[in-house]
Amino acid sequence: MAGLGMIFDETYRPFFERVHRQGLYRREFGLVEVPLTAVASRTGARADKFRREAGDRIGAFASFSGGDALPRLLGHGVDVVCVATPDDRHFDAALQALDAGKHVLIEKPSVLTLQELDRLCASAKRQAVLAKVVYHKLADPDHKKLRTHVADGVLKHVNNGYCSLLEPKQISSSQFAEWISGRNPGTYVALHYVKLIDFTFGEFATRRADASTLAGWRLARVSATGQRGLVGPADGRTWDSVQLQITYAYPDGREAAFDIHTSWVTPDNFPGYVEQEVQFRFDNGVWNAHQRKRGVEMTVEGHAPAELKITPNHHFNAMFLEPWGERSQRGYGIEVIERFFEEVAYVEFGGPGDQRAIRLEEMRALDYNDLSADRNTVAVAQALEAILSEHFQGRPGCVVDVNAVEGGLVLRQPGFKDAVVLYAAPV
Ligand SMILES: NC(=O)c1ccc[n+]([C@@H]2O[C@H](COP(=O)([O-])OP(=O)(O)OC[C@H]3O[C@@H](n4cnc5c(N)ncnc54)[C@H](O)[C@@H]3O)[C@@H](O)[C@H]2O)c1
Repeated sequence: MAGLGMIFDETYRPFFERVHRQGLYRREFGLVEVPLTAVASRTGARADKFRREAGDRIGAFASFSGGDALPRLLGHGVDVVCVATPDDRHFDAALQALDAGKHVLIEKPSVLTLQELDRLCASAKRQAVLAKVVYHKLADPDHKKLRTHVADGVLKHVNNGYCSLLEPKQISSSQFAEWISGRNPGTYVALHYVKLIDFTFGEFATRRADASTLAGWRLARVSATGQRGLVGPADGRTWDSVQLQITYAYPDGREAAFDIHTSWVTPDNFPGYVEQEVQFRFDNGVWNAHQRKRGVEMTVEGHAPAELKITPNHHFNAMFLEPWGERSQRGYGIEVIERFFEEVAYVEFGGPGDQRAIRLEEMRALDYNDLSADRNTVAVAQALEAILSEHFQGRPGCVVDVNAVEGGLVLRQPGFKDAVVLYAAPV
């Protein structure tokens, strides 16, 4: 495990604690042990705290910190590496792990450029291991149902939509203080929705009435702007909030556009804590979802909203007293990590050794999490980072065209004739 921050605590830790107790089981591969054997973090302090607090809920593990933490972790006999370091530190860790022949799971956003993605995919292929990324929103039951309606043709032809995810100020001011400089909330969370849109609509967008498909729904353009001045200086490189627009083109020339608004400076006492909302409009319908308004509203004097949320999302990850007396922590945020380990177990133990390559290809073909299917999402990340960087340098309002004449990702500045090619090959 590389990185032991907030997301480790919410999803990986409960997963490792559960498999420590129960193992991982499926008929295809039998009982597989998934011990957490080693962790790498910047200072080692969070590993010490985790070890202290977890007690016998976890087995013994080695903790490495400092500049050479990852190579030491890789030398510690690990088979799988999960990368949950800050957004702009995924690539190095993932590449080292893949080059060492380990299966890799990376937190979203996988990486920030297509050049990096190409290198990771090439290494995974060379080493015959899985390289996957976590977008837990795809496992949210509401999003699964949305995709099911789209797949079944109940909702037809998406035209446009908006997504909004607002994080409290404490995220930017304390939780991420160490790495927030030069970063933006769009790359941090808008990509959840980019992936949701790309994955949910992409495969089915061009389906004809006879269920055959037309090639051609494609990412066409990316634009973005944002605000500064709260997390850092008004003319600095660190962003408070970001508004991103992505446009897809259908083969017949119709377009679909999506606006994704993100912030990490919402007041800490905002009842939602993390406020998430989406609306998608189709030729024949509208889908409207509010992630925290799923029915529960609760106030406890002196505890809400800081410690206990006023409108909690118990579906992502929550602690429960099960009806049968057991204390558990479950939700789709944990389920998606367990699913990755099942995929690894299936590759390694799901049948005869001489058929491993077939099982590997089967698991690689899963577009929801394979790195090779993350191209559009990474293209948007790269475009967004470039647009915000131009804005910082005094050139706001840039647009990135996807698969243009000049190249795969082409940045255009208003008033300038020459374009900048961010990525030459087709996206
Ligand atoms: N799936 C989700 O919804 C979700 C939610 C939150 C965060 N994330 C993602 O998870 C990643 C981590 O976010 P977080 O909220 O846990 O951040 P965090 O700041 O709480 O924790 C970061 C951790 O990484 C460690 N770290 C930093 N640099 C390192 C390095 N070079 N080598 C090894 N360890 C290093 C730190 O010591 C810390 O343990 C980010 O990519 C973020 O986008 C995903």
